[in-house]
Amino acid sequence: MTLHVVVLGAAAGGGLPQWNCGCSNCNDARTGRLRPRSQSSIAVSSDRQNWVILNASPDLRDQLARTPALHPTGPRQMPLASVVLTNGDIDHVAGLLCLRERQAFALYATSAIHDILSRNPVFDVLDATLVPRVPVAGGVPFAPAPGLSATLIPVPGKVPLYLERGAVETALIGEQTVGVLVEAGGKRLYYIPGCAMMTDDLRARLQGADLVLFDGTLWSDDEMIRAGLGQKTGRRMGHMPISGPDGTLAAFDGIDVGRKVFVHLNNTNPVWRDDGPERAEVEAAGWIVGDDGTEITL
Ligand code: MLT
Ligand code: MN
Ligand code: ZN
Repeated sequence: MTLHVVVLGAAAGGGLPQWNCGCSNCNDARTGRLRPRSQSSIAVSSDRQNWVILNASPDLRDQLARTPALHPTGPRQMPLASVVLTNGDIDHVAGLLCLRERQAFALYATSAIHDILSRNPVFDVLDATLVPRVPVAGGVPFAPAPGLSATLIPVPGKVPLYLERGAVETALIGEQTVGVLVEAGGKRLYYIPGCAMMTDDLRARLQGADLVLFDGTLWSDDEMIRAGLGQKTGRRMGHMPISGPDGTLAAFDGIDVGRKVFVHLNNTNPVWRDDGPERAEVEAAGWIVGDDGTEITL
């Protein structure tokens, strides 16, 4: 048993370029100076025959079309066993609507995330007799595909943007935001596309993992504000920055992990640029900047 991972989309919500963004990265992605990247999702398998998709991005249709391992294997047969959701954000759930053509698969998420989907009747397009919605509690292992074990790990985060009302707790630990531990054949990978801060518990869990795919949304907490693109810090959006004293590079110092990959990168992030100092800094710290199509076998 091995663990195969394909990054279907390495960008955060909005993608690169984001439709309404005129930042330098987005402009360069429109003119071919930077490669466009699609929104946040990965696929995992232990046998390359049965896959689980972790987060269903609005770009899922294209992502499936360009990933041969996920092409149909018969007239109406897909090598897709299940979809697992890490939160209720648009970039992680809207792609469920692309999976509506009477295809069987299981849908795993916390009860809180299932409740959000249940309150939105548009998701009822997924026929419940074909797509069972399976609530899973944090810390309790389940089998998302043959040969794989998965466990939801609550991490600091917040409710989805469209459910924010009044004061927002940005680093809640509960059912709103989870990472996923996936295991096969003694190998362990963690997929954590959103994390507001490192905790002692998370640090201890990550120790010794073979692979961690982690929230790389922003390089610096105030990146969007300084670029004149918004009023919010990364932390307000539920994402810890890569750089700085409380950033991800510093937080992973002393955590022994086989491979570290940034995913869920916002279009403003300077690490998208191959030749910039920020890319050099993350690579010097042992990180890979995830890309659409990045494949890793453990
Ligand atoms: C996020 O990761 O912060 C969300 O995807 C933002 C959004 O809903 O656009
Ligand atoms: Mn997101
Ligand atoms: Zn942009």
